[in-house]
Amino acid sequence: MEIVYNLVVVLHLVGMAIIVGGYIAVLRAPKILPGMWHGALTQLVTGLALVGMRESGAVDGEEPLNHAKIGVKLVVALVVAVLVFRGRKRTDVPAGTVHAIGGLALLNVLVAAVWE
Ligand code: HEM
Repeated sequence: MEIVYNLVVVLHLVGMAIIVGGYIAVLRAPKILPGMWHGALTQLVTGLALVGMRESGAVDGEEPLNHAKIGVKLVVALVVAVLVFRGRKRTDVPAGTVHAIGGLALLNVLVAAVWE
């Protein structure tokens, strides 16, 4: 099961790269790229899959999950997904919305890396 868990972690990192990389690519001319929607969905699906595998005891050698941290990440990821979904077919998305998407995705990276 460890190999499956590690592969889902890789997908989780790819989803993060799609959102954060997409945001950095449009920093000077803010807009929502179609891939950002796929990245946001990837984060929700793979994040919940990681939690499921950890909580079910299917993965050995991992510490117990911090539920407060996971709860914060889930709420932040849901806000990112809603913002991307609502703006994904529009050409007049305010720059602030795009910065909120990129900033919140980066906030989740910070939470993942810094919060024990
Ligand atoms: C924009 C959304 C998100 C971003 C950018 C993000 C980013 C990251 C990053 C960078 C890692 C570190 C991977 C590692 O080296 O171990 C990680 C781990 C993880 N994420 Fe996410 N994540 C997001 C959403 C979610 C969601 C919605 C969940 C679950 C509800 C979740 C659950 C997890 C879990 C369980 C881990 C591995 C355990 C840990 O390190 O705490 N993530 N995430």
